[in-house]
Amino acid sequence: MKTAIFAHRGSKGNRPENTIAAFKEAMRINSDGIELDVHLTKDQELVIIHDEKIDRTTNGKGYVKDYTLQQLKQFDAGVWFSDEYKSERIPTLKEVLILLKDYEGTLNIELKTDRIDYPFIEQKVIDAVHEWRPNHPTLYSSFNHESLARLKAIEPEADFGILLFEKLYDPWLYARHIGASSLHLYKPAALSPSTSIIQDEGLAVRAWTINDADDMRRLFALGVDGIMTDYPEKAMEIREEFKELEVQKK
Ligand code: G3P
Ligand code: MG
Repeated sequence: MKTAIFAHRGSKGNRPENTIAAFKEAMRINSDGIELDVHLTKDQELVIIHDEKIDRTTNGKGYVKDYTLQQLKQFDAGVWFSDEYKSERIPTLKEVLILLKDYEGTLNIELKTDRIDYPFIEQKVIDAVHEWRPNHPTLYSSFNHESLARLKAIEPEADFGILLFEKLYDPWLYARHIGASSLHLYKPAALSPSTSIIQDEGLAVRAWTINDADDMRRLFALGVDGIMTDYPEKAMEIREEFKELEVQKK
């Protein structure tokens, strides 16, 4: 089985995370999937950034929720990473969906509702995806499982994964209860023997965030359905080497 490689926050290892430059890089290398994080501005616009605050990844300070989109757009979201990416801005979900119009991989939209439970963000995300009708499959995820349940109520067909830090007992029962198709597991849980049981129970397993080459090889050997990595190009090379070795063994 081929493990899908998701470009975490675009291509976080070599581009400023969650920017247009990062998503272009993920498209350039044709990663199997792209993961991004979504928050809501003061004027209810969907923006792509990881943290609740803009301090770490822009030259501004404060909470996303306290700025209008127009105000947020004044901050630089690339220069903190390198001068080469000066003038990158915090993108909107709409801008990314337009950029990815012809992308053929899977877009994983993570609802960042675990610290700030933005009211009605699930409806807004579903509306944006409907409006821009991407050709690629869309996969939702969140650490806030109530948020996922709300998403499911709005869009019963939505494909979503449950993000977990913890190692749950019989996690497939929990996943089925919410209606998820997959579990997005923190590395230690993904590397455990229960991964194959979860898959036998009919759920996909994706692991995050996998940047170490040996971890990648172990997860390819386990046959997980996907990995989220900051280094998708490196992961694709390692997967090729891994496949060649498997062929030689036969
Ligand atoms: O989806 C995997 C990963 O994105 C979850 O953690 O904090 O990078 O959003 P985080
Ligand atoms: Mg994320």
